[in-house]
Amino acid sequence: MSPGDKDQIYRRTLGELAAVLDGLADPIAAMASAASLLHQALPAASWTGFYRVVEPGLLRVGPYQGPLGCLEIPFGRGVCGATARERRSQVVPDVDAFPGHIACDALARSEITVPIFEPGGELVAVLDIDSHQPAAFDELDREHLETAAALLAHAFAPPASTASTESAPG
Ligand code: SME
Repeated sequence: MSPGDKDQIYRRTLGELAAVLDGLADPIAAMASAASLLHQALPAASWTGFYRVVEPGLLRVGPYQGPLGCLEIPFGRGVCGATARERRSQVVPDVDAFPGHIACDALARSEITVPIFEPGGELVAVLDIDSHQPAAFDELDREHLETAAALLAHAFAPPASTASTESAPG
C-alpha cells in the first residue's frame, strides 16, 4: 500500500471514529468501536486493541479484535509496558529485536503502540496494533494513531454533570 493510500484510509477512518465518539462518555464503548474501525481499515493488522491501566504499574486487556491477547502486562514488560512507562508511542519494525517483547501471538512480526491520556493528562490506556508482516507500521501510522488517541481521550473524561457537582461549593 502506498503512503498516499494509507493516509486516505486513516483520514476516512478517523472521520468515522470522530463521528462515533461524538458526545460518547463511555470508555468501553469508545475503545470497542475504535478497535473495530481500525482493525477493519488496516489490512496489515493482526490484533488491534487496548490495554487499560487498572492499578499503578499494571495494564489489563480491554476491547480488541483478533486472537486471544495476554490478560495483564506490568509496566516493566513488553512494548505496551514501555509505552505506559515512557508515556510515548513505540513503533517496532521487528518485535524480535525489542527487549522484553511479549509474544501473545507467535506469528507477530511488528507492532505499534500509542498511549491514551484522559483530558487531565493521566495515562488511562495503551492502543496496541500488531502485524504478521515485518515493519508494517511507520511514522505515518504513529501520527494518525496519536490523533485517534486524542479523539478517544474525551470518552475518559468524567461526565459534565459529575464534574460540576464535584466542583460545587459545600
Ligand atoms: N506484544 C505486546 C503484548 C500484547 S499483544 O501482542 C496483544 C507487548 O509486547 O507489549
